[in-house]
Amino acid sequence: MSSDIHLENKVAIVTGASRGIGEAIAKSFARNGAKVVLAARKLEGLERVRDEIQGAGGKALAVACHAGEPDQIDALVARTIKEFGQVDVLVNNAATNPYFGPMMNLEWAAWDKTFDVNVKGYFAATRAVAKHLMERKAHGSIVNMASVVGFMGSPLQGIYAMTKAAIVSMTKTMAMELGSAGIRVNCIAPGVIDTRFASALTTNEEIMATVKARNAFSRIGSPEEVAGAALYLASDAASYTTGHTLVVDGGWTVSL
Ligand SMILES: NC(=O)c1ccc[n+]([C@@H]2O[C@H](COP(=O)([O-])OP(=O)(O)OC[C@H]3O[C@@H](n4cnc5c(N)ncnc54)[C@H](OP(=O)(O)O)[C@@H]3O)[C@@H](O)[C@H]2O)c1
Repeated sequence: MSSDIHLENKVAIVTGASRGIGEAIAKSFARNGAKVVLAARKLEGLERVRDEIQGAGGKALAVACHAGEPDQIDALVARTIKEFGQVDVLVNNAATNPYFGPMMNLEWAAWDKTFDVNVKGYFAATRAVAKHLMERKAHGSIVNMASVVGFMGSPLQGIYAMTKAAIVSMTKTMAMELGSAGIRVNCIAPGVIDTRFASALTTNEEIMATVKARNAFSRIGSPEEVAGAALYLASDAASYTTGHTLVVDGGWTVSL
């Protein structure tokens, strides 16, 4: 096993790759040798990322896919195999948080959407890629994007936080069940990262003051700072690491 961090000869699917953390992960994977399949609902953003990767000499394919729809996920995996011959790495990164408010006022439509994309989608993609890896008798790596809110009470983000706690749990059980097939399953729990997704937090001065006060660096993170963790976990350098959740939060949670 190599301790070098690269993805030469690997094919990786990254969901939510049209902006934010997913875009940074896809570009990092491509720079480090992977052929990357970029998935999100809207093709437009994916094509921009694909063109930037290809312009820098990398290989990428853009595929529109709703991450809460198991049929579309199966089609994404099938298309990846058709175009690139195999899948070695899956990053379940796309997520949604349609409801920002107290749990008592939640409407079921928001519950369903949040759990469909953030939990059912991750589960469906993990199963589809694991099935393919087992059929190929190939080793593989699955990286799930959770959040530090999954570890704590999170007023106003309670349903989203529940889905992220579920992903930490799913990661552990999948790691145990898939380890004998040589498939590693790990998780990343970011703190506040500067993306569109976090704009409800980053544009709120009161919340930002609290976040920065608890952070060892007194700043929020960048998507690239999460991409480095994903690259490590996806690569063979992490060959003895599975079921783990790597916290990338500038020290926020150690202060709790
Ligand atoms: N930013 C943070 O502070 C933070 C903190 C902790 C954890 N995270 C996690 O990090 C991950 C990425 O977040 P981000 O901040 O990078 O978000 P972002 O900048 O808003 O990007 C979200 C990406 O997901 C895609 N997406 C959204 N819904 C989708 C769906 N139903 N099906 C397929 N793709 C979908 C979006 O493209 P389309 O709209 O075209 O579908 C986009 O590519 C998420 O799992 C999030 O929970 C973020």
